Amino acid sequence: MPSIYDDIKADHDNHRDLLARIADTTGASKDRQTAWREFFRDVKSHAAAEEETFYSKLMSKTWGQDAARHSVSEHADLDQLMEDLNGMDMSSSGWLNKFNKLRHDYEHHMDEEEDEVFTRARKVIPEAETKSLGTRFRARKEKELKLVAKKREDHLED
Ligand SMILES: [Fe+2]
Ligand SMILES: [Fe+2]
Repeated sequence: MPSIYDDIKADHDNHRDLLARIADTTGASKDRQTAWREFFRDVKSHAAAEEETFYSKLMSKTWGQDAARHSVSEHADLDQLMEDLNGMDMSSSGWLNKFNKLRHDYEHHMDEEEDEVFTRARKVIPEAETKSLGTRFRARKEKELKLVAKKREDHLED
């Protein structure tokens, strides 16, 4: 059974691929729209599940608090960038500039989680808990994926 670290890393690798895929597309092409939608939905759900399982656990440990707070505050910044992009014209140079910033910042965020944050977490979260934490992460993410899809439908109906 995978640990929470494997689950998070697998999502990150998918997100890195999607970022590269989006960067390879042009204008408001169908490919860009599809890849962006997939990225948006998955990253939102990933971040929410991370906060509610992994970071809430890390936050409960004295030596995990600052790392957890730092990452959660980066989530808020990244979320703002993604929401901004959602409201912009994909074929504009402004969109691409902002996307490049998002890509840079998010890649940095993922690298930091996999290095500093995982190292810190391995010291404070008992190894025996990491598999059940992984299971909770996956279940939470599934729920979030449905919520994001639902919000999008409601938004389109407005
Ligand atoms: Fe994160
Ligand atoms: Fe992450």
